[in-house]
Amino acid sequence: MAVIALAGASGGPGVTTSALALLLSWPLPAGRKALLAECDPDGGAVVAGYLEGRVPGPHSLANLQVADRLGRLEAGLWEQLINLSVPETQADRLLLPGLKHPAQAAGLAGTWPHLATLFGAWHRSVGCDVLVDLGRSGAGGPASALAASADVVAVVVRGTLRAAVAARPRIEALRELAGGRGAQNLGLLLIGEGPYAERDITAHLELPVLARLPFDPQAARVLTHGGEGGRAFARSGLLRQAAEAGRRLQRLAWERQEQLAAPVGAEGVV
Ligand SMILES: Nc1ncnc2c1ncn2[C@@H]1O[C@H](COP(=O)(O)OP(=O)(O)O)[C@@H](O)[C@H]1O
Ligand SMILES: [Mg+2]
Repeated sequence: MAVIALAGASGGPGVTTSALALLLSWPLPAGRKALLAECDPDGGAVVAGYLEGRVPGPHSLANLQVADRLGRLEAGLWEQLINLSVPETQADRLLLPGLKHPAQAAGLAGTWPHLATLFGAWHRSVGCDVLVDLGRSGAGGPASALAASADVVAVVVRGTLRAAVAARPRIEALRELAGGRGAQNLGLLLIGEGPYAERDITAHLELPVLARLPFDPQAARVLTHGGEGGRAFARSGLLRQAAEAGRRLQRLAWERQEQLAAPVGAEGVV
């Protein structure tokens, strides 16, 4: 089980859409769960987008501030989750909807680190993989705990000059945050749009491509704005490749956990 954080840069590279595609296709053996936590300080997008506002109540990450103060963060987290499983009875693909207003982010300053710890523990205690949407600015200041404690941090980027230029400062900040040994968990989730080949992007950003998603505007539109995608959506290249990307990210996270569990110094032994 794993905690995987997705980060973006300016220009809407597709973090939320990719995170949702991963959640809906995430490899789930029986009894396991996956959670998408919308921790973007600029606000959540899935409720008004993919879910078209059709939600069972005012579920939001923002409500965890009070739960945390009362010392009941874990119980509070369960109460805020929305079930995105199809069929619904499975209840294994869960969403923690994000903030409704960016101003709510400041109030969570003390909660981000507790949430990071809870996600880390949850993947063991609940058997739940956690996908954390950090948005384009999340993981700075107190929210940095979310990136620092993730097994893998994937920066979503497209193969365009604009995307590569925008991603660079974001990657530098995340690299600094992770520091030394931790920077090994950082890489790219490449969306196949634009003229740049994978090796150009890798060379420019000095990071490996951890996983890939296709440029698929039709399927992406359903994830971003909702609507009946029908069979074409269910069979789309985006969802199919998201399943493969999920397997890769999950495997990398496990490898990372093994590395961290290994005795210090073992890494260098050939
Ligand atoms: N794989 C993709 N193929 C085509 N369009 C995409 C893809 N991923 C995202 N998009 C589109 O890009 C735009 C921004 O996506 P979004 O997920 O909201 O970005 P972010 O969360 O990084 O701000 C949306 O219009 C979305 O439909
Ligand atoms: Mg987003």
